[in-house]
Amino acid sequence: MPWRLEIVQDEEALGKAAARIIAEQVRAQPDSVLALPTGRTPLCVYRELTTMDQRGELDLRRVRFFHLDEFYPMAMDSPASFQAFLWREFLSQVSIDRANVHFLNGLAEDTTAECRRYEERIVAVGGLDLVVLGIGVNGHIAFNEPGSPVDSRTRLVTLCRESRAASAYLFASAEEVPHQGLTMGIGTIMEGQRILLIAVGERKARAVSQSLGHSLTPSLPASFLRQHPDLTVILDQEAASLLKKI
Ligand code: PGA
Repeated sequence: MPWRLEIVQDEEALGKAAARIIAEQVRAQPDSVLALPTGRTPLCVYRELTTMDQRGELDLRRVRFFHLDEFYPMAMDSPASFQAFLWREFLSQVSIDRANVHFLNGLAEDTTAECRRYEERIVAVGGLDLVVLGIGVNGHIAFNEPGSPVDSRTRLVTLCRESRAASAYLFASAEEVPHQGLTMGIGTIMEGQRILLIAVGERKARAVSQSLGHSLTPSLPASFLRQHPDLTVILDQEAASLLKKI
């Protein structure tokens, strides 16, 4: 198994383990380029990083931040936007340079140009050093839904029913969840120097065991991550509960 697997007791332990890896990356390279996820899973990681920042154990001021994906269409100042989520749950809590934060524009009229701009921005800052990912119940990574090609780039995609349902908590009603999103592609993610995949809870157990244990297949986008030379997977006991001996 060329990738590393760490199984921890619970969500709190996962937050500490993932934050430790992110902190090590930032200490080794203070201007690291991070790609960060939205969702319920990373909240424990953001809490831990915030504590580290407040204790003066971590300096994020030179770190460059990109988010993985955004709904489309989506106003950036809407509380349901992934951009607003990251500010609320993490970026506004820590000392960073706002000029170092890069987001996809969920209201871009020309989405092809917007996605090209985002890819060019990543290249301009020297590429992604560490990509932090959650996993969807259908095996998606960012908004790369089942069927996404391994060489896909940042693009406009149609969201699966499961992904829309999983995001309903951000909206007043499930019908309000947009049907499309902008997302870094699997190819974009795979070009990151390091990848950290995190999953918590029993509802992720099937997607985790299939993605890590079965063959590589576009029907499970997370399975492609096993081809990456520097992949770390951190799971809590429940998310790991269906893993066979790998
Ligand atoms: P979640 O989303 O952390 O809210 O479960 C993860 C994902 O869909 O990537």
